[in-house]
Amino acid sequence: MDHKLKDKIVWITGASSGIGKFLSIEMAKRGAICVVTARRKNILDDLCQQIQNSGGKAYAYVGDVTNLDEIKRVASDIKQEFGKLDLLVANAGNHIFTKPLNFDSSEYMNLMNVNYGGMLYCIEAVMEIFKTQGYGKIVGMASLAGYRGLPKAAAYGASKSAMNHFLESIRFHFERENINVTIVDPGFVKTPLTDKNDFQMPFLVSPERASRIICDSLEKGKKLISFPIPFNWFINFLRIIPYFIYEKLVRYQWKKMKFS
Ligand SMILES: NC(=O)c1ccc[n+]([C@@H]2O[C@H](COP(=O)([O-])OP(=O)(O)OC[C@H]3O[C@@H](n4cnc5c(N)ncnc54)[C@H](OP(=O)(O)O)[C@@H]3O)[C@@H](O)[C@H]2O)c1
Repeated sequence: MDHKLKDKIVWITGASSGIGKFLSIEMAKRGAICVVTARRKNILDDLCQQIQNSGGKAYAYVGDVTNLDEIKRVASDIKQEFGKLDLLVANAGNHIFTKPLNFDSSEYMNLMNVNYGGMLYCIEAVMEIFKTQGYGKIVGMASLAGYRGLPKAAAYGASKSAMNHFLESIRFHFERENINVTIVDPGFVKTPLTDKNDFQMPFLVSPERASRIICDSLEKGKKLISFPIPFNWFINFLRIIPYFIYEKLVRYQWKKMKFS
């Protein structure tokens, strides 16, 4: 089967772990040439080796998404090495729990800088390439957690809400310049990020399955990829019901769950 991702130059941030790692493997399997970025170089090198051993193509570039100079340097290296960039997957991210009694705003600002700011830096870095070549595609890894306020996820949810809102809005401007935008809103995916959760995660999906869903949907040209279906429906249901019902439902669930 011929994949639409075949021979595409794809830059995936946050590729040293979890969704980014398995997405890189899946994309490379479909013939994409993957540029993988994160802060931990040795893990990226191992990933590239693993992909190359299975017949794929992957190249590691170190980059902290909170450092605009570093991220611009990666973009410029991509331009020099490959001459083009078809797709940016702004995936790097982190999660911290909100602790109301030890409130530290700097923690939340830092999280915003990684999740939302990091995506903005990556978009700024690739715009020069996209403008010159006359096309491009941006995929932002947001989250269903950005749809409604959920306990313990205030800082994380706010950063993902910002991503969703920004991407949803910028799409209209970018499409005029032949730059497409896709939002990915996963539910719970089993990764080191969610391994920190101290509650039972409904409809937990493996990173391999998440990566297949994302790639299949990208190849179908979907603009919004949200999964798994039951959790997506549940969160969307929370979005449309009257506020007092949403509050009651979440409060009820919060009481039932054994949070530490
Ligand atoms: N897992 C889920 O259930 C879930 C659900 C919805 C959305 N998401 C989103 O999916 C993305 C990936 O999450 P994950 O679950 O795969 O998490 P993960 O396993 O913890 O991986 C996070 C990745 O981001 C990179 N990263 C973190 N801070 C960075 C920085 N400052 N600069 C560059 N890279 C950085 C990490 O690499 P280094 O530490 O090597 O830099 C790592 O590769 C995140 O944006 C997350 O919010 C996850």
